[in-house]
Amino acid sequence: MATLAEQQTYAPKKFDLSGLQGISDNTLTVHFGLYEGYVKNTNLLNEQISGLIASGSAAGSNPGYAELKRRLGFEYNGMVLHEYYFGNMTKTAGSSAPAKVQDCVAGTFGDFETWKKDFSAVGAMRGVGWAIAYFDPTTQRVNNHWITLHEDGNVAGYVPLLVMDVWEHAFLLDYKPAERSKYIESFFLNVDWGVVNRRLEAAKAGRTP
Ligand SMILES: [Fe+2]
Repeated sequence: MATLAEQQTYAPKKFDLSGLQGISDNTLTVHFGLYEGYVKNTNLLNEQISGLIASGSAAGSNPGYAELKRRLGFEYNGMVLHEYYFGNMTKTAGSSAPAKVQDCVAGTFGDFETWKKDFSAVGAMRGVGWAIAYFDPTTQRVNNHWITLHEDGNVAGYVPLLVMDVWEHAFLLDYKPAERSKYIESFFLNVDWGVVNRRLEAAKAGRTP
């Protein structure tokens, strides 16, 4: 029978993205390395937390346990958000968003371009974090949200449709620090709208894509 730590061990995923528009292979190589660091640290933290559970020391009053759990929020969300981000880009992008995606965002924002302007504006906010377009299963609407670091701002129960990393490591090898807007324009050139559409259809059906 697998140990608790083994049951909570993750393997880094591979993404074939070489040749994106405006996001260099060098940036991707560095970024994949950072992502694998999040996976490694998630596994390490889960291993340490499992040890405390096994020894009967997993108590909220234990500062060591509490600190590990707080760090896990950072590393775990860092792992998961990068998988969404790499997963919603493709080197063969080129088509516009499918009608179902356009209709869905228009249901909240009036039209696709207004949604895109808002999403881009979220991504251009000062600070380190993420822009995420979420599907709200309750209202069937799409909302754009800012996530600070990896763990502050994720909306419970909402489903990420489009995830954009705006930490500086995502673009600083290709653009100047003040050129985040150029990176955001490049990001949109590489969006895999087929993936976004599958996420939307799955969210509407109440299942994972
Ligand atoms: Fe990143």
